[in-house]
Amino acid sequence: MRSDANIAGPMTDPVPGPRTESMGEDVSRETPPPMDDTPIGRAAQLAVEALGRAGEGLPRPEQTRVIVVANQKGGVGKTTTTVNLAASLALHGGRVLVIDLDPQGNASTALGIDHHAEVPSIYDVLIDSKPLSEVVQPVQDVEGLFCAPATIDLAGAEIELVSLVARESRLQRAIKSYEQPLDYILIDCPPSLGLLTVNALVAGQEVLIPIQCEYYALEGLGQLLRNVDLVRGHLNPALHVSTILLTMYDGRTRLASQVADEVRSHFGDEVLRTSIPRSVRISEAPSYGQTVLTYDPGSSGALSYFEAAREIALKGVDVAYDPTHTHGGAQNNTSTVEGIQ
Ligand SMILES: Nc1ncnc2c1ncn2[C@@H]1O[C@H](COP(=O)(O)OP(=O)(O)OP(=O)(O)O)[C@@H](O)[C@H]1O
Ligand SMILES: [Mg+2]
Repeated sequence: MRSDANIAGPMTDPVPGPRTESMGEDVSRETPPPMDDTPIGRAAQLAVEALGRAGEGLPRPEQTRVIVVANQKGGVGKTTTTVNLAASLALHGGRVLVIDLDPQGNASTALGIDHHAEVPSIYDVLIDSKPLSEVVQPVQDVEGLFCAPATIDLAGAEIELVSLVARESRLQRAIKSYEQPLDYILIDCPPSLGLLTVNALVAGQEVLIPIQCEYYALEGLGQLLRNVDLVRGHLNPALHVSTILLTMYDGRTRLASQVADEVRSHFGDEVLRTSIPRSVRISEAPSYGQTVLTYDPGSSGALSYFEAAREIALKGVDVAYDPTHTHGGAQNNTSTVEGIQ
């Protein structure tokens, strides 16, 4: 029944051309009725169809996939990507945990999770060795989605971790002793490469890098890739950059398509076919404590995250990671660092 032409087609074009969602949103801030014969109306209809099939057809990974969402550049869409992919994977029927590893606590806010100073949080897990199960909260409205929140305490953790035993692997240890069955853990990193991000890189197998389609998009990325190499070499041999996601793509600008081309030529198959459009709906959702998937399931932003999640789920099955294999793994990442500062 489900065909790529139907669902993935219009939203997964790497250069979506004149399909300008923001134009549609300027005209109307409501999801148009399903029969509306406009680009956004059609996208909405496809999204509703896709969401209607949520939970069907997608393979669940044999083992928990721990995906680190990292980019030390600020404001590129790490948190937005973490929460919306997590919600999408849960809607696809998976059990998903979001670990908020950013003292800003944006992922916790976006998921509507209480994270005032007294709430048990990931800080207690990292610094006081509290079991992860004691801080995890279920996310309302999305079955199968959970969050380990960050509170403001986490701001001090970078410094406090320095003097602790096994300071780089405290999150890894906490995840290993977490006994609830999970299909995915997504870790939202802060915009830095300090000990919090290192803890995430040690705990995960996969790195997902959101790249904003803007000038300077690749600048500084070399440093992140070198850190991934270092952590792989010394602490976590399974770590590899599995996924690049283009965010805030504005099909009306030539710059966006140039950046997309450049990223694709550097990273090849790691780049998801689906790119995330710049969308008012995506940016509005967190202020309601919601992901775009529940805030406006018919919007093109929701559809694109839903499709990106589908690609990630299928990719995990198609290309099981093999460190001796040069495609999609460590060696490939290293070779693609060339030319990136
Ligand atoms: N596709 C999108 N369309 C429109 N706005 C977006 C989109 N993705 C993210 N934003 C907005 O851009 C801003 C930065 O996004 P986000 O917080 O996800 O980035 P980040 O990389 O997590 O930032 P930080 O480095 O501060 O943690 C937010 O205001 C968010 O709502
Ligand atoms: Mg963030």
